[in-house]
Amino acid sequence: MPKITYISNAGETRTVDTSVGMTVMRTAIANAIPGIDADCGGSCACATCHVYVDPAWFDQLKPAETAESDMLDFVIDREPTSRLSCQIEITDALDGLVVRTPATQH
Ligand code: FES
Repeated sequence: MPKITYISNAGETRTVDTSVGMTVMRTAIANAIPGIDADCGGSCACATCHVYVDPAWFDQLKPAETAESDMLDFVIDREPTSRLSCQIEITDALDGLVVRTPATQH
């Protein structure tokens, strides 16, 4: 069973189980991970599921599609490894993925 580690802006770390086909956002919501609002429910329309992907993992993700890249233009404090967690689908290859949540989603 794949695992995802979430690191809060304050440095608190939680590692939770997920499953192939889930997203990083849905896993966070299911486990009450703070710092991910996901106002649009995963439709790539709100950008309140912004995360920073650990640099060691960033290149293993499928590249962001145009809609995601466009939405990322609206996030505060965008960084080179910024992604929308609703658009990161879990695969076996992503077992151990590490993401960090931003200070704010607004
Ligand atoms: S949940 Fe709205 S863009 Fe990801």
